[in-house]
Amino acid sequence: METTHKLFFQSSGNLDKIQSGSIDLIVTSPPYPMIEMWDDIFSKQNKAVGKAIGKQDGNLAFELMHRILDSVWDEAFRVLKNGGFACINIGDATRSLKSNFAIYPNHARILQYLVKTGFTALPEIIWRKQTNAPNKFMGSGMLPAGAYVTLEHEYILILRKGGKREFKNDSERHARRRSAIFWEERNNFFSDIWLDIKGSRQGLIDKASRKRSAAFPFELAYRLINMYSVKKDTVLDPFLGTGTTMAAAMAAARNSIGYEIDNGFYDSVIKIRENIIDLSNHHMENRLKKHIVFVNERIASGKSLKYKNIPYGFPVITNQEKELVLNELKTIEMIQDNLIQVDYFDNPQTPFCREWEESVMEKTVLPQTRTHDLQLELF
Ligand SMILES: C[S@@+](CC[C@H](N)C(=O)[O-])C[C@H]1O[C@@H](n2cnc3c(N)ncnc32)[C@H](O)[C@@H]1O
Repeated sequence: METTHKLFFQSSGNLDKIQSGSIDLIVTSPPYPMIEMWDDIFSKQNKAVGKAIGKQDGNLAFELMHRILDSVWDEAFRVLKNGGFACINIGDATRSLKSNFAIYPNHARILQYLVKTGFTALPEIIWRKQTNAPNKFMGSGMLPAGAYVTLEHEYILILRKGGKREFKNDSERHARRRSAIFWEERNNFFSDIWLDIKGSRQGLIDKASRKRSAAFPFELAYRLINMYSVKKDTVLDPFLGTGTTMAAAMAAARNSIGYEIDNGFYDSVIKIRENIIDLSNHHMENRLKKHIVFVNERIASGKSLKYKNIPYGFPVITNQEKELVLNELKTIEMIQDNLIQVDYFDNPQTPFCREWEESVMEKTVLPQTRTHDLQLELF
């Protein structure tokens, strides 16, 4: 199995290299309007933004910045297939202009526009970002009534174009079954509050690029891709930054396309090639290990697991997990200066899975390890 990953360093206000109705999933995070680090990028795209900021007119600047994003959402709607999802990570902004402290509700403005465009809004995720910032409290402190609640969450807006996706033939249904997630992952991934994804650790890119791009964590993109697409689908990120969505698509055996206006990120994106094989395979191994720990805990608590996963031989809870397989990455190659190709193993390579199969057959319970001991170091 192979996937390809295409890069375009141009504005996503015009996705002219992408055919209408050809994208299965969008995973992205735009520049956040009214967060100061993005003022310049918005002002370069519309001078009126800079003027509004200069005049300290927060409401006007907010609206003008969103109009730049609106043209990307229009294009996103055009290129998505019917039944395709858009997952948009966005945070609100707080800012003082003319000594007036206010919140600028980016998530609400984007959601409203997307629904007007024709998307169906679905239940969203609140990503509770853990922050250790010493001065996270805003306002007057202990004296009422001049303090503000801290902003420690962001949103992942989830929308769909049209009705439910249909899996029409045997090959589509087969790809869907092979793309299943574990039962115990489902319970975590589909919760509406994500607490366990840390904001910054990543391992794919250097700290400076991560800071400059406000990169989201690999795990965030990887989860969304696993939740809303199947292997060999095409995932688009119209605000690619350092390429986290592309890296997660590679790890999950999906094709991807990325648009990014700032060609200063080219080196960060193509650098993904250097360690994505190790990182992805380690990540997959970790998912499998966590599953084995889950199985052991369940067996130890006297509960049963009814089904057996065919590729790995270990028990699973549901019939839907029987064909689940995590395709390890074999090779990665730059085939053009904007095109990367990844090749995968079709069947499991990780040796411990075979050992597990034997231990299950002998009804041996592996040594107890607690799930949280296996938190992945690298992501
Ligand atoms: C929040 S960052 C995305 C970070 C990315 N998720 C990552 O993990 O690195 C937003 C990105 O959008 C880019 N950008 C802003 N306006 C754009 C436009 N009109 N078209 C394409 N990219 C744009 C910025 O340069 C920035 O890299």
